[in-house]
Amino acid sequence: MSKNKQLETLATKRAKVLAGGGPKRVEKQHESGKMTARERIAALTDEGSFVELDQFVTHRGTEFGMDKTEAPGDGVVSGYGTIDGRMVYLFAQDFTVLGGSLGEMHAAKICKVMDLAMKSGTPFIGINDSGGARIQEGVDALNGFGEIFKRNTWASGVIPQISVIMGPCAGGAVYSPALTDFVFMTNGAHMFITGPQVIQAVTGEEVSSEALGGAAAHNSISGNAHFFASNEKDCFAQIRTLLSYIPSNNREAPPLAPCTDPAQRADEILRDVVPESPSKAYDMRDVINAIADHRVFFETHAYYSQNILTGFIRLNGVSVGVIANQPKVMAGCLDIDCSDKASRFIRFCDAFGIPLLTFVDTPGYLPGVAQEHGGIIRHGAKLLYAYSEASVPKLTVITRKAYGGAYLAMCSKSLGADMTIAWPTAQIAVMGAQGAANIVFRRDIDAAEDPEAKRQEKINEYEEKFSNPYCAAARGLVDMVIEPEQTRPYLIKSLNALIGKKEARPVKKHGNVPL
Ligand code: HXC
Repeated sequence: MSKNKQLETLATKRAKVLAGGGPKRVEKQHESGKMTARERIAALTDEGSFVELDQFVTHRGTEFGMDKTEAPGDGVVSGYGTIDGRMVYLFAQDFTVLGGSLGEMHAAKICKVMDLAMKSGTPFIGINDSGGARIQEGVDALNGFGEIFKRNTWASGVIPQISVIMGPCAGGAVYSPALTDFVFMTNGAHMFITGPQVIQAVTGEEVSSEALGGAAAHNSISGNAHFFASNEKDCFAQIRTLLSYIPSNNREAPPLAPCTDPAQRADEILRDVVPESPSKAYDMRDVINAIADHRVFFETHAYYSQNILTGFIRLNGVSVGVIANQPKVMAGCLDIDCSDKASRFIRFCDAFGIPLLTFVDTPGYLPGVAQEHGGIIRHGAKLLYAYSEASVPKLTVITRKAYGGAYLAMCSKSLGADMTIAWPTAQIAVMGAQGAANIVFRRDIDAAEDPEAKRQEKINEYEEKFSNPYCAAARGLVDMVIEPEQTRPYLIKSLNALIGKKEARPVKKHGNVPL
């Protein structure tokens, strides 16, 4: 064959692959508001940076007509490219080819880029849009999923893994995203183990795909998704922002961003943010925004378990993971869901060397039969475990209530906080003054001529004695009591002083986090 002919063959073969499932299916994809796999990769990566691998991989199926079925690229586009100049390995399932279903070779392509990402120490991104296991390939397809799950697990804590759900993601296929660090969902995408029809057949429950496993449901109810995107472009912009805060692997420091926001900036709004009345709510986001570089807080899991806030900020250019009680929602109580949310975030930051900053204003763990029977003991323990295990720099700011077990759980000194800062409004005690007075002074109150007056007197007495930061400061459990507006300068100084922190843990295979 002449060289020209050989080049022609390559061009023809390539054109066939690039056409995916053909114009009709591409049109259908566009009509449903979705980009094709290649368009998605082009939109996410830096222009011209994507290099495709395994373009000519084909399936080896012979059953159910597969011997006569062509599947360009075997329904997935994979390779590497840069995002804001940083290398990532990625794949995007091509719904126009056999519904993006996963067969043996489709899985092999994904595994190859996962292995390369692990060896090269780059983030790994998977864009999911698929009918799940390729029905015609039977156990070969299932085995393919197993190979991916195993790699997701091995890569956990080594490279950041991001899953993006942009179409259907059903059955066991959902477990790859569930094993990764962050899950993005676009409006219109769906994720479930069993869909509405199966549910109706088995339990009789009627539910739409959207209500069962849409982006809103997974972001706000199940917590399976960390980011909600109104459309695909918005989703890619959010992924780029997330990557800007995190390192490419667990051996690299998080990226440093330029900062023109003065380190000494003292924000006066912090003086008034905590209300006079201890039972009055305020928005902890106001505090976080005020201390962050350029007042930017990039929230993760923003719609889930909103009694705790998690996300990233920068302090003088350094990426920091923030965990904060939110007094505006359920008074900032700790419950099952928020313990899960915060613990997983803490463990991500610790695995990737991102310092932790905790804001505390919580009256305690949420009382209730549902919480107790739902396993608040086990779930709440995750928070203690995650903070105690973390060896990155740990900074804690107590703005108001830090009561009982919740005080301990929110990165107390005892769990290894390196610097604990308290505002003068901080109340560090076993419980609130009201509850404490009723228990400790019950006899005095009952015996008093005017029990109400006595109760108030005892509440005042307890408040005077314990509802402040100075008892804890007297024991060295608070390092500094500062004016609220000085929080940013103090945090930046503390972080500077801790940036070289090294703290060993006992050698072991791995711990046994309460799951
Ligand atoms: C092979 C599949 C497929 C699959 C879809 N297709 N899913 N081919 N295996 N799993 C093909 C269709 O035959 C069709 O081919 C094309 O993809 C597009 O599908 P449509 O049904 O026309 O699209 P749409 O109406 O948008 O519906 C999408 C869908 C539906 C909701 C995903 O296709 C569907 O329900 N698929 C089956 C889902 C499923 O049960 N998968 C197995 C899950 S179990 P043509 O040639 O007509 O374009 C699983 C186990 C994993 O994944 C276990 C791991 C441990």
